[in-house]
Amino acid sequence: MAEQRERWTSRTSFVMASIGAAIGLGNVWRFPYIAYTNGGGAFLVPFFVALLTAGIPLMILEYAMGRKMQAGAPTAFAKIGKNFEWIGWVALFAVMLIFCYYPVIMSWCWNYMLYSIKLGWGAEAKDFFYDNFLQLTDGPGNLGGIRWPILIGLAISWLAIFLILYKGVRIVGKVVMYTVTIPWIILVIMLIRGLTLPGALEGVNYYLTPDFKAILRPGVWLAAYGQVFFSLSLGMGTLIVYSSYLSPKSDIANNAVITSLGDAGTSFFAGFAVFSVVGYLAQAMNVGVPKVTTSGVGLAFITYPTAIKLLPFWAPLFGFLFFLLLLTLGIDSFFSQVEPFVAGFTDKWKFKKETVLIVVTVVGFLMGVAFTTRGGFYWLDIIDYYTCSFGLTLVAILESIAIGYFYKASRLREYINEVSEFRIGKWWDIAIMVILPLVLGVSFILELVRLIKEGYGDYPSWASLLGAIVLGVLIILSFVLMRIRAREEA
Ligand code: PHE
Repeated sequence: MAEQRERWTSRTSFVMASIGAAIGLGNVWRFPYIAYTNGGGAFLVPFFVALLTAGIPLMILEYAMGRKMQAGAPTAFAKIGKNFEWIGWVALFAVMLIFCYYPVIMSWCWNYMLYSIKLGWGAEAKDFFYDNFLQLTDGPGNLGGIRWPILIGLAISWLAIFLILYKGVRIVGKVVMYTVTIPWIILVIMLIRGLTLPGALEGVNYYLTPDFKAILRPGVWLAAYGQVFFSLSLGMGTLIVYSSYLSPKSDIANNAVITSLGDAGTSFFAGFAVFSVVGYLAQAMNVGVPKVTTSGVGLAFITYPTAIKLLPFWAPLFGFLFFLLLLTLGIDSFFSQVEPFVAGFTDKWKFKKETVLIVVTVVGFLMGVAFTTRGGFYWLDIIDYYTCSFGLTLVAILESIAIGYFYKASRLREYINEVSEFRIGKWWDIAIMVILPLVLGVSFILELVRLIKEGYGDYPSWASLLGAIVLGVLIILSFVLMRIRAREEA
């Protein structure tokens, strides 16, 4: 390669950037809710099993691939085998779908941060969220025009990302020092506030009391693996491209363990902060804990605001802090979604990074506009489901097969052991070659069968079909991009 690849300025920048990518909205609203609906404390068992059998091994794999191939996902896969390049593109298209709607959730946070100042959601946070804020239409077929406040928030998010990424990974390395530490400080404040509220322990109890019957349900295991992938940002090319900016002497295995445990620990911790408040709410409303929480999105934008409103002092401040927490968590995850996509193009065709970034920003913003409409909420939900349940799982399966059987797991392991601070054993080969494809393959098929039988949610079948078509088209597009020749071969 003629020109120098960009580099992290230090190991800390890299680890912080990876942790920043991993820790996101997924930890603070998704994890507590998923744990709550999947057996409470019992969910922690499948979760940690998923982390050890799939999360950490796959993270080691992605770090090793990026670091060894020194390229973003498509080019890295092409180096394993010419016909594998499309896998990398599928990963990038999956992350593209995410970066179309992720900043829309961030835009809700911008708006709610402002509402916090006057506790603008009033007594009925649920009605406020759906009727006043989203102004939700009656179904995905009715888009009902743009909600301007959401569009403005979306524009702000994209502008912020553009400015950060434009300066390259050196600046990313600096920004993440703040976007990783600030949310942690806020989280600690929220935890102390939460735990000192009456009823807090009821909530925490609910979070930690295991329901061991739940462990026997396959759905709980699927949820655990899905959560681990989403949260660690696996199967999306993010970690591959981040580690491709590592210099040749850097460690892999230890970094992967630090990142994974940092992320999982944050989820576990955030569970306490959220559930103490939920317990408080239950006590204030005089109902049991199971009655107060609603859906995943609801936890952050409905249950939490309701509880904030009831706080005895400084309620606006805690409201503001909570949404600031979500924003600072979201921002570094958001740029970790855009960076691999941009790098996919610059690595293969040697386009100028600035140009690609401008195009991606404009196009990503425009695609996101669909989710800022009054019916956009439904589409956000549908696209999120397809991407996370099928897109990411598919990439992870393909990735482990390509490396495990074609490149050979043992060969990559040798390489990892050459550079890492500790050696990984044969267990890793087994995780990559057997456990990952098996567990994910079975999950994938079970979920597909369920989907075909029952459809997704309460949506009309054409709407879920459209979600599947989008994914299908993107997979075909991945093959097309693979066929287009790279510049130096042309
Ligand atoms: N892991 C992030 C979260 O938990 C989401 C994310 C997805 C980040 C894809 C990067 C890539 O919110």
